[in-house]
Amino acid sequence: MTNSRLQSTVQLYNLHPPLDNFRREVLQGLMQSPKSISPKFLYDKRGAELFDAICELDEYYLTRTEISILQAHAPEIAAYLNQKVLLEFGSGSSQKVRILLDATPDLSTYVALDISKQHLQESCENLVAAYPKLNAIAVCADYTQPLELPNIPAIQQKNRVGFFPGSTIGNLEPEEAVQFLNSAADLLGSGGGLLIGVDLQKSAAILEPAYDDAQGISAAFALNLLTRINRELDADFDLNQFKYSATYNQSAGRIEMYIVSLIAQTLSLDGIEIQFQSGERLRTEYSYKYSIPQFQALAALAGFRAQQVWTDPENLFSLHYLQLS
Ligand code: AVI
Repeated sequence: MTNSRLQSTVQLYNLHPPLDNFRREVLQGLMQSPKSISPKFLYDKRGAELFDAICELDEYYLTRTEISILQAHAPEIAAYLNQKVLLEFGSGSSQKVRILLDATPDLSTYVALDISKQHLQESCENLVAAYPKLNAIAVCADYTQPLELPNIPAIQQKNRVGFFPGSTIGNLEPEEAVQFLNSAADLLGSGGGLLIGVDLQKSAAILEPAYDDAQGISAAFALNLLTRINRELDADFDLNQFKYSATYNQSAGRIEMYIVSLIAQTLSLDGIEIQFQSGERLRTEYSYKYSIPQFQALAALAGFRAQQVWTDPENLFSLHYLQLS
């Protein structure tokens, strides 16, 4: 682990998470049947910009609804955070953690965990510029894997509360979600809590436009994966020969997102041939939607007790406070 000071009030601990092997994982995903590539690869620079644009769409209710829940219940939520260490999974460039910080002047310490050192640095520096008294600690690590926090008194001596907004847990398969919750429970320790945003099950009439909007931003976000593969892996995908599809699989409780080949075609990637049948799908993402009892049951598998849940008036989204014994 290396430790450096970014500004007078931000400490960076680099746990040196292993780098992804984009080439190996993409090739593996394209050569298997059915084809699929991990959603983590959607977020290159352009992908991150397109995702930010998705969050602003009228159809994509998730971001604004979660923010409205945080704002409406900030004092109640703050009561769980007073004197605690707040540990954010993914670093807090967003508006969301600021709502918590504004409501909790007595927060002990803020810890941001992120795999991208650059994103972590930028977001922590911005946060500390806005909250100069904040004791902020940046940890560069892969929070989807078990990890140990730096052994420093500011973190070790207090109860911890995790913050995992955005329904990002929905992009994991339920078994992976339980694995994540188990690692989070280890990291938060006994007496710890977890504040987590989870999108709720609802009609396909609301869900499908949220993931396939009229302006085509969601489609551009998925298809940008092919542009990235062309650029980084010397491939020759013709984006005009593919389309995007997002459908709600009601029995599985998830939105399924695919890139679909419009014709039978053979592509080359780093000199390796990849074949697509006409209509063949490449899965880019699942986004699971849970009912409140379903999610509470999932969290219980990792030892979390449901303490409180807040929703919006239309029951679109849920924010859970879960407690470890
Ligand atoms: C990041 N994650 C919670 C988004 C979601 O809603 O599943 C990713 C996304 N993909 C397309 N639109 C949004």
